[in-house]
Amino acid sequence: MEHRLKKQWLNINGADRMVVYDYENDSLADVLRRIGLTGTKIGCGIGVCGACSVVLNGEVVRACSKKMKKIEDFDQIVTIEGIGTAMHLHPLQKAFLKYGGLQCGICTPGFIVSAYGLLAENPSPTREEVRMWFHDHKNYCRCTGYKQIVDAVMAAAPVMRGEADESTLDFDVEKENNGRYYNSRMPRPSGLGKVTGTLDYGEDASLKMPPGLLHAAVVQPRVTRHANILAIHTEEAEKMPGVVKVITGDTVRNELGGTNMIDQFSASSVVSAPTREILCDKKIKRYGDVIALVVADTREHAREAAKKVTMDFEQLPELTAPTAALRPDAPSVNGFPNVYTELGSIKGENPTDIIEEAPYSVEGHFYVQHEPHLSIEGDALIAYEDEDGNLAIQCKSQSIYGNHALLGKTIGLPDDKVRVLQHGAVGASFGWSCDYTDQAMVAIAARAVDAPVSLVMSWEEHSHYAGKRTSATINAKMSCDEEGHINGLKFSVAGDHGAYVEFSDNGNYNRVGTPYYVPNIRGFFQMYSSNNNHCTAWRGFGMPQTNTFTEQLMDMLAEKAGMDPFDFRFKNLMRGEQTSPVGGVYKNAHMMEKIMLAAKPYYEELKAKVKDLSTDTVKHGVGISMATFFPTMGTWDKASASVEIRKDNCFYVHNTYHEMGQGGDICNMITMLETFKDYNIPPERIHIDINDSKNSPDSGISAQSRSFVMNCGAINEAAKLLIAAMKKEDGTLRTYDEMVAEGIDTLYEAKYQIQDPQKTAFFRDKFSSQGQQEPTPGFAFNVAHVAVDTKTGKTQVLGYRSWADCGIIGNWLGAEGQAYGGIVQNIGYALTEDYLEDKKYGNINGCGLTSAANVPDDFEVHFLEDYPRPGTPFGSNGLSEIFFAGQNYAILGGIYNATGVRIYEQPALPEKVLDGLAHLAKGEEVPMPAAYYRNYDLDEKIEELEESLDAFLEERGLKPAKDDDKNTVMEDYS
Ligand code: FES
Ligand code: FES
Repeated sequence: MEHRLKKQWLNINGADRMVVYDYENDSLADVLRRIGLTGTKIGCGIGVCGACSVVLNGEVVRACSKKMKKIEDFDQIVTIEGIGTAMHLHPLQKAFLKYGGLQCGICTPGFIVSAYGLLAENPSPTREEVRMWFHDHKNYCRCTGYKQIVDAVMAAAPVMRGEADESTLDFDVEKENNGRYYNSRMPRPSGLGKVTGTLDYGEDASLKMPPGLLHAAVVQPRVTRHANILAIHTEEAEKMPGVVKVITGDTVRNELGGTNMIDQFSASSVVSAPTREILCDKKIKRYGDVIALVVADTREHAREAAKKVTMDFEQLPELTAPTAALRPDAPSVNGFPNVYTELGSIKGENPTDIIEEAPYSVEGHFYVQHEPHLSIEGDALIAYEDEDGNLAIQCKSQSIYGNHALLGKTIGLPDDKVRVLQHGAVGASFGWSCDYTDQAMVAIAARAVDAPVSLVMSWEEHSHYAGKRTSATINAKMSCDEEGHINGLKFSVAGDHGAYVEFSDNGNYNRVGTPYYVPNIRGFFQMYSSNNNHCTAWRGFGMPQTNTFTEQLMDMLAEKAGMDPFDFRFKNLMRGEQTSPVGGVYKNAHMMEKIMLAAKPYYEELKAKVKDLSTDTVKHGVGISMATFFPTMGTWDKASASVEIRKDNCFYVHNTYHEMGQGGDICNMITMLETFKDYNIPPERIHIDINDSKNSPDSGISAQSRSFVMNCGAINEAAKLLIAAMKKEDGTLRTYDEMVAEGIDTLYEAKYQIQDPQKTAFFRDKFSSQGQQEPTPGFAFNVAHVAVDTKTGKTQVLGYRSWADCGIIGNWLGAEGQAYGGIVQNIGYALTEDYLEDKKYGNINGCGLTSAANVPDDFEVHFLEDYPRPGTPFGSNGLSEIFFAGQNYAILGGIYNATGVRIYEQPALPEKVLDGLAHLAKGEEVPMPAAYYRNYDLDEKIEELEESLDAFLEERGLKPAKDDDKNTVMEDYS
């Protein structure tokens, strides 16, 4: 026998139950999940994330790392299922719903169980005690920023002590918002399934598939970052127990008729052919590449056999150091020049002489790192033949139709035989699941064995497989006149996009200088291939990289000019008819003044306070930043949605508002409720059935903070069509039966597009960026209070407040959750998070994920709703990425303010701070890195750009884009 089994009695959720388990191998989580208690979620699977927390004999433990052989007979175990059910919620579950303590929800049952353990031990904790409890018990959340989780525990505690009525934890729309769901604190519809642990994520769904499911494992050699593959040896693996098939690139091409290549190019580049093999059999280009899949009867068998696949390879030079791939002798990674996208920035005069002659100028060299996404859930997919004979791929896609359009060719199926759908719930992504190569792998596996297949990567495999945020090296100069008005900006940025080119277009890099009025700009941006992990979509998409250095330059220049950084920023905000780096005028520019003025009292108070708080060993400082983001894809954006009424007289909504935890569910719900507000339709009559290419119209990708405007616009339009069809002469609505009897359609689909591209004076010279359309931006002004321990170099964020302009708030819990979550991701980006090709970065701790111990209790976000967005659904705008567009710099600025150490290269690890302090102690300046290598002369490049722009404009009979030429900015979404 392969395994010895043991029978044991356990007391689970108050009742005795007998279980039989694999004595040597099973963990407590394995057993609980196998008997159906899948509210004990799996994130990391190695004891470091807390998603699987349960109470064992009164102690909170992580069930995935608790071996069953350590569990005694009749040990008492409490799981989320024992705490409360959907019909009988525990106060903690109610509080998590009411205070928005959940987003994707993969961590939520673990947090609730952990909080249950906390309150049993300490019924009256302080906020700090709650945070430290979660830290000590390794409960990590990537979405919420912890703030609303702590709010929920603090609200549940008095109810559990009997000091507050349980009804305080209910949401009452009448009392709280005069019966209007829009602009209220309505809890999200998926919340109930999340707080009770009943929603099934990818790995849960795999456990619950009908018999016949096979399991795939990836072969990820991780022995080289750059090599020619000479041979792949599968024979040993094929002999392993339970193995059904070992699949390589050869299988895909020769047996399945697929290309085995990802068919996605970089649109504005020299890329001439697909660069990425799904199952590599020609070349390894990065640490996490996959060379084969093993399909077996169990996941364990598949993984064991995967270890037996080997390859022969010829090592090539590994281009991993920043800019190494730009050197003249660097080999090509992808068969074309390593620099594959170039983009210029031209505005006004060439600032070279202006900067040279300016009374105040600064120069800096900066680096921002490859940031991992760190979703708590890794990657789990299932592929199966559906009832129509199509191949269904159940996954975490955040671009169902984008993926669908590419999959068929790769895997060797006609497009109309492929279906892409989301699991019942997905544990966040923040961008990495825009890619589809994981979907291709599970689909290939299912096709190759002609059976349903589950592919669950370990968190470590996933970490090395999934894309990261593009890292960048930057050389930049900025100057201002005597009064402190910025008059010149010159820069070069090199983005290291790693091994593959997908999602590598200009990514907002042409907006350098935003949101300040910079009359004269020359800049050049390159994206290049290297042997680092490939990069992909990540919240903020370019803005964090560029705003990190422009905000730093703002501080450096303010200091040179003898001005307070606040006053310097305030003076230089774009105003009125002043133009952006690409020539746009923002009708909401005045909102920047408003949010800064709203923040000023706190900033001034903090500035005075930090001096008094500092001691010999702990230095306090205050840092500020402005963040800007441009929701939607501008003029080219469109989305479709459908709304129907069915026999039960309920309304069903369909679209691809990919619900990753960011609020696709609640935004569907409030849009429906608002559109139907004159007809008293309660939330219970609205069902959200989304994210399935079988029945959901295409609403586009969920990225660029576009989903709210685009999806809700389409839902609103479709719902209006349905209302028009249902409306009787007396103003009431027909029932379903009445509609059918009268032969009226019951389903309506509508499209929403923000502007007709044909009607827009749209011109964009790809080399200069001038004339590019810009959607109306959102702004946030941020103030951080940091404390730096000068002995350890460790930085703690003690306070963070943000004031934002995002239009009307559709749902306060969702908006605040995006803000807090985004800001805490920025704490990690500024201080700890990184990804390098190494074993250490195979878990959330090694990658530097921020725990509850490192978030402030003084944590506030203020939305100013003074500028409803014209033309958007109900005046609202997308806002997720406004909170990852420069927030990190306020922390770096705070470190400088506290210690005098300027952090030029992110993250601000303690050793960098200590090194800076050591220089200061010796009376030396903190050294700036040397200028980053460029494979061109910037002045020559500028000349080329100018000539190119002149030719471009002349060809089209357009005027040069000087400062008095206004570009059309997306203002009215119609
Ligand atoms: S700690 Fe168990 S899944 Fe992460
Ligand atoms: S809600 Fe906590 S990880 Fe997503």
